[in-house]
Amino acid sequence: METDVDNKPISQWTSQERVGVVKEIFNTVTPHYDLLNRLMSARQDVRWRRFAARRIPREARNALDVATGTGDLAIDMATAGGELRVIGVDFVERMMRLGREKTSRRNLTRLISFTAADALMLPFDDNQFDAATIAFGIRNIPDRRSALKEMARVVRPGGKVIVLEMTFPRNMRLRRFFRWYLNNVMPVVGRLISGNSRAYRYLPDSIQDFLHPDQLSTLFEEAGLKSVKAFPLTFGITYLHEGIVA
Ligand SMILES: C[S@@+](CC[C@H](N)C(=O)[O-])C[C@H]1O[C@@H](n2cnc3c(N)ncnc32)[C@H](O)[C@@H]1O
Repeated sequence: METDVDNKPISQWTSQERVGVVKEIFNTVTPHYDLLNRLMSARQDVRWRRFAARRIPREARNALDVATGTGDLAIDMATAGGELRVIGVDFVERMMRLGREKTSRRNLTRLISFTAADALMLPFDDNQFDAATIAFGIRNIPDRRSALKEMARVVRPGGKVIVLEMTFPRNMRLRRFFRWYLNNVMPVVGRLISGNSRAYRYLPDSIQDFLHPDQLSTLFEEAGLKSVKAFPLTFGITYLHEGIVA
């Protein structure tokens, strides 16, 4: 059913409208979510999450994966070689249910657990984790600065905050191709497989509407994070940002 938000650009949505759409989308695409990620990124999403998992220092003992969805990054972190315990949080239970199934199939319940929570109100004490991550989640949160501050709050001084997110490549030719792909291929494939046309219209719009990597670095600094670094992945269609909690 068409609603008000379908008739205006994403930049004009209120925060409440955006959160409503995000919850509706992730509640409906869940069974197809992992498959569509692999298809639409030509499996690059797997490489990107593994890169993020490798950025967690070896000595880290626990990590929080915010907006964990079906738990792919939590699983990569827990299986990266150390003995890392990971808590995944998300405000869509249905996504985490799949994460719990995947975790138990892989005998990882000793290392990974899931808790329902909003990224802006994490139910954890200050300085509790060695690292906090968010993969392809911050784009969906209207108040990104508060989300970063909240992640930094629960990480101990010296610990790391990591954000993995899709952006628009800087190279002009690539930009043109990526724009065509986002606006023509992604919505069609997404609709055919998931049956949810809104979700796969929202996805390309949200990527095109997202911050430039330099702006995200600035937000890291405004959230009090130090030694901020940004790594372009796959020609800069995705970036990993990281910062150290002061
Ligand atoms: C694109 S999925 C990413 C899932 C997973 N991190 C991955 O790498 O595949 C975005 C997830 O963010 C969650 N999310 C969005 N806003 C959130 C918020 N404010 N609090 C908690 N979860 C949120 C959605 O429910 C969804 O599961």
